[in-house]
Amino acid sequence: MPSALPSGEPAPTDGSLPASAVAELGDGPISLYLHVPFCATRCGYCDFNTYTAAELGSAPGSSRQAFLDAADAELALAARVLGPRPVDTVFVGGGTPTLLAAGELVGLLAAARRYFPLSDAAEVTTECNPESVDARYLEALVAGGFNRISFGMQSARGHVLRVLERTHTPGRVAAVVGWARAAGFGSVSLDLIYGTPGEGLDDWRASLEAALTLTPDHVSAYALIVEEGTRLAAQIRRGEVPAPIDDLQADCYELADELLSAAGLGWYELSNWSRPGHECRHNLAYWRGGAWWGVGPGAHSHVGGVRWWNVKHPRRYSAALSAGQSPAAAREMLDADARRVERVLLESRLADGLAVDVLTASERARVSGLAARGLVEVGSRPEVATDRLRLTLRGRLLADAVVRDLLD
Ligand SMILES: C[S@@+](CC[C@H](N)C(=O)[O-])C[C@H]1O[C@@H](n2cnc3c(N)ncnc32)[C@H](O)[C@@H]1O
Ligand code: SF4
Repeated sequence: MPSALPSGEPAPTDGSLPASAVAELGDGPISLYLHVPFCATRCGYCDFNTYTAAELGSAPGSSRQAFLDAADAELALAARVLGPRPVDTVFVGGGTPTLLAAGELVGLLAAARRYFPLSDAAEVTTECNPESVDARYLEALVAGGFNRISFGMQSARGHVLRVLERTHTPGRVAAVVGWARAAGFGSVSLDLIYGTPGEGLDDWRASLEAALTLTPDHVSAYALIVEEGTRLAAQIRRGEVPAPIDDLQADCYELADELLSAAGLGWYELSNWSRPGHECRHNLAYWRGGAWWGVGPGAHSHVGGVRWWNVKHPRRYSAALSAGQSPAAAREMLDADARRVERVLLESRLADGLAVDVLTASERARVSGLAARGLVEVGSRPEVATDRLRLTLRGRLLADAVVRDLLD
């Protein structure tokens, strides 16, 4: 089952936000995240907030329609709280959004559009499991307004997909990418995972090369994280499956950076590479401290220093909205220092780097030591701005430790 939510202070049942948080937005746009909490089966490594039909059962509030009705109600709540304002990016994630019928997924986007104006230039993404769609499905998504798609490829090796408990075959990804291009998606992204038990560096090279033959516009490559409470964690604890090896994951990262860069996909965030102009604007909004409203069970939101998160179970989520209440479980108000630390944590992961003037005097004093250790650079090359701190390749491998060393 998915992991527990963080604790926080109670969130108002009417969903209201402090006036200062809304005022900070001005007339600016927001981003919308729509979380679809369903999967056909649960992959052994995943602890995202998602449920199989068997886990949900047939109690009222568990159905897809109940979810769609509740998501519509939460969009209406968001529009009441934020007032009319443009939406710059929409991202439908999961779970498996493409477990919904194409008409249902397009209907979810249409609901978002009813409450928030969406410009022609908006980036509208859905995540997609390769086994769950065909050519007609993808055509319906483009006709309904989606212009970006992110396929969960994970690996091109059958034995790796089996350890991950993914249900698609390696060849399926080439087919769906071809259909997506033919349907007219302007941007196609592939998600890959490295460091799966039993995956060697050659397997990972084969996955990267297979991904690159599909000429994606964008690739996300994540180190496999063994999440507590997952089947994979239990298998490793029992010795049935070896644990991922840190040094091998580092080699995988370096190989990804080498092959993706050589193919014209530049890194723009630690785990993300894209062709110029195909960076994911939605994720950049998160990383740059933008405002977004997350609709759906367990979805997180952030507006002007207020963070909140919804109840996780789809039945509780539907029940709250059916009763005319906000589905927020709790919220957190970030003070100026917490916001500054968050900015350091997020912006230091970007290729654009972190504005040095965000750092305190004592943090700034540590920069030269980190640079001498080859972990960060500030204006040391023409492409690195003189007022921004950027991780080197070595620093990217040790990003969490570098930021810990930097912060007061
Ligand atoms: C949660 S999934 C949702 C989209 C879709 N269901 C899929 O699996 O592609 C988003 C991405 O997170 C990755 N992910 C989930 N759990 C992970 C873990 N423990 N370590 C690394 N990546 C993980 C998935 O493999 C996927 O590429
Ligand atoms: S399909 Fe995606 S969201 Fe569903 S269990 Fe697998 S990784 Fe998690």
